[in-house]
Amino acid sequence: MKVRCGIDIVDITRFVKNLEDGNTAFFDKCFTEDEIAYCNSSKDLKKKAERFAARWAAKEAVGKALGTGLLSEGVGMHDIEVIKDERGMPGIKLYGGALSHADELGMSSVSISLSHDGGMAAAYCVMLVEKD
Ligand SMILES: CC(C)(COP(=O)(O)OP(=O)(O)OC[C@H]1O[C@@H](n2cnc3c(N)ncnc32)[C@H](O)[C@@H]1OP(=O)(O)O)[C@@H](O)C(=O)NCCC(=O)NCCS
Repeated sequence: MKVRCGIDIVDITRFVKNLEDGNTAFFDKCFTEDEIAYCNSSKDLKKKAERFAARWAAKEAVGKALGTGLLSEGVGMHDIEVIKDERGMPGIKLYGGALSHADELGMSSVSISLSHDGGMAAAYCVMLVEKD
């Protein structure tokens, strides 16, 4: 068993601007329906932006742990989804190209942690795989 990790940090400014502009196409392109519903469930625009930025960082962090990156090698924005359990703990679901790469690696577990503060959002991913 091998451990892989990935980390990413994202400035929330771009997400604030897209929210202020009502650019729903941007969010639809980058996030799943459930991710959008969760992020928009806050009334506070800054909080929404932080949540979107954290999910963007999560997708990048998972892409790094997979070794593919994001928007390359068939891994799209919707192929990596941040889910939440009843306590608010985030998790990751993979689809499409991301799932194929994870299967090739023999991934048995993927874990994500998110944080946001001071206009930045960060995500850290840990993955257990069979192969290099
Ligand atoms: C959950 C908690 C650890 C978040 O820490 P924080 O410093 O407030 O906020 P951060 O920006 O670092 O982290 C926020 C992220 O924590 C994650 N999170 C929430 N609940 C979580 C849990 N039970 N386990 C793991 N991660 C959790 C979420 O991904 C959240 O981001 P999201 O809303 O975009 O999904 C913290 O609020 C806590 O301990 N809450 C439970 C008890 C409580 O409210 N105590 C008072 C805290 S002062």
